[in-house]
Amino acid sequence: MYLKPNVVLEPLVDKWYAWSHLISPATAAMNIVNRHLTIIESYLAAPQIHAEAVLNPKMRGGPFMDFGGGRLDEISSLEQESYKKQAKVIQFAKAVKELDKMLLAEAKGFGLEELYKKVPEILKGYVELYYDRNNNPGFRFFESLLYKSEFYNRESQSISMWVTNNDERPFCLSTPRLKEPDVLNLEIGFDHPCIDELAKMKRVPQTLDYIKAITGISPSQEALFETFFTDTPPPPYNKYTGDKIRMRYFGHACILVETKDISILVDPLISYYGYSSSVDHFSDVDLPDTIDYVLITHNHQDHILFETLLPLRHKIKNLIVPRTTSGKLEDPDLKLMFENIGFNNVIPMDEMETIKFSDAVLTGLPFIGEHSDLNILTKMCYLVQIGEFRLLFLADSRIVEPALYKHIHRQIGSVDVMFLGMECDGAPLTWLYGPLMTKKLPRDMDGSRRLAGSDCEKGKALVDIFNPKELYVYAMGQEPWCEFISSIKYTDESNPIVQSNKLVDICRDRGMTAERLFGEKELLYDKRQALVDMDG
Ligand SMILES: [Fe+2]
Repeated sequence: MYLKPNVVLEPLVDKWYAWSHLISPATAAMNIVNRHLTIIESYLAAPQIHAEAVLNPKMRGGPFMDFGGGRLDEISSLEQESYKKQAKVIQFAKAVKELDKMLLAEAKGFGLEELYKKVPEILKGYVELYYDRNNNPGFRFFESLLYKSEFYNRESQSISMWVTNNDERPFCLSTPRLKEPDVLNLEIGFDHPCIDELAKMKRVPQTLDYIKAITGISPSQEALFETFFTDTPPPPYNKYTGDKIRMRYFGHACILVETKDISILVDPLISYYGYSSSVDHFSDVDLPDTIDYVLITHNHQDHILFETLLPLRHKIKNLIVPRTTSGKLEDPDLKLMFENIGFNNVIPMDEMETIKFSDAVLTGLPFIGEHSDLNILTKMCYLVQIGEFRLLFLADSRIVEPALYKHIHRQIGSVDVMFLGMECDGAPLTWLYGPLMTKKLPRDMDGSRRLAGSDCEKGKALVDIFNPKELYVYAMGQEPWCEFISSIKYTDESNPIVQSNKLVDICRDRGMTAERLFGEKELLYDKRQALVDMDG
C-alpha cells in the first residue's frame, strides 16, 4: 500500500502547530506561557470576541482561536493538561522574567559574580551573565544543556495524520488542533523513525502490517489509520535528465534548483498532490528521490515548516542553516534544534562561507533587516552558482543599508537571477517575538519595529547593485496553501502588491524579465548564462 498523496503529517506541540520556537526549549517555554496559555485564557473568558475577530479581515493573524466561540470544555481541558504537563516549563518562563527584572534592577556596571546567587534557582547553571559594551546587562543560555534538561519536553510532541481536501485551515499560531473524528494522533516525538517510513510510503509501497507495527498505533486507531492508505500508485516521478538548470517555484519562498546531477531546495514549504486547490501547483510528487542540499534562509515560521521538512527528512542529504551560537533567547541555535528532531546532517554556514560540490558553489551572504531590530544572527541569503549561472536568494531581507550589498557585490559580482521577498509592511515585533519579551513594549515602539521585507525603492537599489537579468518577487505568502501559516490575504491595493508591481514595471522598462511569482513556475537556464526556455 501507498500513503495517499494528500495525507498531512501535521507536527504538534501540546496540540499546537509546531514551529521552530516550540522546539528550542527557552523559546518554547515563553511561547507556551505567553502565547498558548494567554490565548486559551482569553478565549475561555470571551469566546464570542474570538469568533468575531476571526471573521474580521483586519484582525487576520491575530491571537484569536477559530472555533466559532464553541468547544469550551475541550479548550479548558487543554489548558489543564498544559498546566500539568508543562509545570516545569511554566516555572522556567517565570524565572526568565525574574532574571530580566533582577538584572535590570541590580546589574549597574559592577562585577556580575555576586549576582549569580540571585539567578532564579531553576536557571542556575543554564545561563551566563554579561554586559554589552555600554553596561547593559544580559544573559545567554547554554542551549545544548537545556535540550538535555527537563525543560526540553519531547513528550509534548505528536503527529496528527489527516487527509486534506482543500486549502482551508485556521491560522495555525492561534488555533490549536482539537480532536476530530477523521484526525489520527500519533503520540511520537519528531525524531521518531516512523515519520520517515510513513513518508517513504508516498512513493514506495509497503505492507500495512509493517507500518502499523512501526507506528505503534492502538487497535482502536486501526480502522481510521487504514483509510490513509491506497493501492493506487502515485503519478510516476520523472527525474530531470536535460542538460540545463531547471528552476521550479513551489509557492512562497520555496524553490527547487536542479540539474541532471544535483538538486538544491530553498526554504521548503510544499503543498500536496491529489486534492482540489484553486491554484495549480507543484507538490511533493515533483520532488526528486534525494535532495542534495536544503537551504534555510531564516528562522521564521513560514520558512521552516516541519510539516514539509519532517516527511522530507529521509531524502535530505545536507541541511544548511545560518549559524548562531549566541545563546540569546530571541536567537535559538538552528543546528541544535534540527538535530534534536532527528536531522543528523545539519551544516551551519557563516556569512561569505562557500560550499562546493559537483559543478555548484553555494555562498552564504549577509541578510539584513526583517527581524524587528533584534540581535538575531540566524539569517542568511544565498548565492547558488551552477556552472557559470548564478541565482541569488534574498528571502525577506530588507535593504536598510545599501552599502552592505555594495560590499557584497564587490566580493561576488553580478548575478543572473534575483529572488526577492517584498512583504514590505510586515507585522510589528510583538506578533512573532512578543512572547519572548518580559517587559511591555510601548505600542509606538512596537509599530516601528517590523518584520518587513523590501519595498520598491529598496528592491530597486538591489537591482542596481546586482544587475540581474531577471527579477522574481517571491515569499509573499499569497498562495492559498500558505495562508494558514502566513495569515496574509492581499488585495490589489495592499502596499506589498503595489510596491512589487512598481518594481516589476521598472525592471521591465529596463528590458529585464520580471515577475511576481504565484502558484507555480518553471524556468530552464543554460549553465553558460543564457535564458533558453520559459514555461508556466
Ligand atoms: Fe521572514
